Amino acid sequence: MLNILKEVIKATPNNQITYEQYMNTVLYHQEKGYYMRDEEKIGKKGDFITSSNISTTFGKLFATLFHKLITHEKMAPFICEIGGGNGRFAKAVLDELETTYHDTYQQVTYLIIETSPYHQRKQQELLPIGNKVVQYHSLEEVKRDYPVFDGIVFSNELFDAFPVRVIEKRENSIQEVNITLTPEGKLTECLAPLTDDRILHYLNAYKIELVNGQRFEVPLQMLLYLEKLSAFLGNAVIFTVDYGYTNAEWKESVRRNGSLRGYYKHQLIENPLEHPGEMDLTTHIQFDTLISLGSKLGLEFVKKWRQDEFLLAAGILTFLEENYDPNPFSETSKQNRAIRSLITDGGMSLAFHVVVQQKNRTIDWDLIFQHK
Ligand SMILES: C[S@@+](CC[C@H](N)C(=O)[O-])C[C@H]1O[C@@H](n2cnc3c(N)ncnc32)[C@H](O)[C@@H]1O
Repeated sequence: MLNILKEVIKATPNNQITYEQYMNTVLYHQEKGYYMRDEEKIGKKGDFITSSNISTTFGKLFATLFHKLITHEKMAPFICEIGGGNGRFAKAVLDELETTYHDTYQQVTYLIIETSPYHQRKQQELLPIGNKVVQYHSLEEVKRDYPVFDGIVFSNELFDAFPVRVIEKRENSIQEVNITLTPEGKLTECLAPLTDDRILHYLNAYKIELVNGQRFEVPLQMLLYLEKLSAFLGNAVIFTVDYGYTNAEWKESVRRNGSLRGYYKHQLIENPLEHPGEMDLTTHIQFDTLISLGSKLGLEFVKKWRQDEFLLAAGILTFLEENYDPNPFSETSKQNRAIRSLITDGGMSLAFHVVVQQKNRTIDWDLIFQHK
């Protein structure tokens, strides 16, 4: 990977690449990119864990909501998951629909978009790929089959894996943080004048003001993706689950260094230039941008929940099985522990939020969240 990066850097006129180009290469290079390589990423043997992989209850709960949207609100029976990873969320959703809401299961088509061939292979091991589950590499590919999509869109930790541009304010001037090589051939950061109008436009449009010494990620890829996504949607409901900040939160002084980080074997790595191609890189997403750009694009904002509050509102406690099981390793005990870890203080849900948007539809959300 280092050799690939050296070639990419040396091919530029000023011997430097943006963080976006760096992330694109280390995460998504066709053969050597972190997400493209044949190595476990999610789970104990990987580098990080996600809610979908902590417990099947996460997917089962969403299955209940999807079922209600399809039956009570007559949403078209299409579910499109973007960045489906190893397929564990899709599997939990489809299993729950099949066992508990069989009529809905029969109607549903599950589209799963995933860039990583490694994760696509994992999905093939788990899911009934064919008419029921259709795999795609990109939104563009789905558009060939569905020029306009009516249905439910879901993603968990998609946008936090998107490449970003990095800027920093120094001595009252905003500069871009790029990557170059030291004379010894090592990767290092360098500052460059801010020349990309899209970044300036972003800062103006979202009224972003930095203080001296502050670093900030500009999510140009997320903006482009949201535009493509909203153009693709007809009547739709969108669930976006991720960790991130509101504008008020990223301005706090503890966040002055930005949020770009690595995860390597479950360790948080502060320096994004370490372990290139072998480490996940991630940022906190900017919720206010997701919501306000979404609104401009016709994705009406419904609500943003903290994930634990969302799970409770959606009825996660109904999945807690009452029966006492003395065996702590039984499926029931494991499931109950996983549910608790999703909703208790210190669990991963505190960092996550669920944003719900709707396009060309007004859903009776009280009905969807009603449970006994
Ligand atoms: C952090 S992982 C999360 C995986 C899964 N959603 C989960 O919760 O376990 C992000 C996933 O999004 C995929 N991805 C990134 N950009 C994508 C894009 N533009 N379209 C589809 N998948 C993408 C990555 O390959 C990776 O599998």
